[in-house]
Amino acid sequence: MAILRLGDQAPNFKAQTTEGTIDFHDWLGDAWGVLFSHPADYTPVCTTELGTVAKYTEEFSKRNVKVAALSVDGLESHHGWIKDINETQKTTVNFPIIADEDRKVSELYDMIHPNADSKLTVRSVFVVDPDRKIKLIITYPASTGRNFDELIRVIDSLQLTAYHKVATPANWNQGDDCVIVPAVKDEQIAALFPKGHTEVKPYLRLTPQPNLN
Ligand code: BEZ
Repeated sequence: MAILRLGDQAPNFKAQTTEGTIDFHDWLGDAWGVLFSHPADYTPVCTTELGTVAKYTEEFSKRNVKVAALSVDGLESHHGWIKDINETQKTTVNFPIIADEDRKVSELYDMIHPNADSKLTVRSVFVVDPDRKIKLIITYPASTGRNFDELIRVIDSLQLTAYHKVATPANWNQGDDCVIVPAVKDEQIAALFPKGHTEVKPYLRLTPQPNLN
């Protein structure tokens, strides 16, 4: 198993999911992707997480992001559990959950951390861009449910960098000023950032968030 790092090509795989068999790269098409694992079906924290992801469907789709979940449970288990998620979290799970019983994908993406649990996947998150490059890797322990507002915030930051040549400072949120990336030369700024900019230091140049009116 190769170590996956930011900037690496996201390994492709074929997998059985609750929405049929997918070829990961084909399924992504021209979208960004989130691939996230959870330890097990019919567990409390995971139930809240998958319900939350279902409720964020519109947030993901307006950012052109497709989401797939994964655990090492089988398809029958996933389908039964989805009914519970829908009932208890008052939502409709409408994204594929990979049934990785043979751990093929878990191993490809290093989602089983044996010193935490020898059999179950930890809470891994991979964000992949439309070129299938890995842009974000986060790992949470089984006992901590993820903050999906933070995931959306990072996706917004990644897309600002990809499409507008800005980075985002500490604790950035939608509407806050952004940082002009160091690769942009001073003489390019006027054309690229018509809203203006503030030079706090030659290496710290701020501009209003470019993709807002
Ligand atoms: C949970 O989803 O609640 C959970 C799963 C595995 C270990 C601890 C909590």
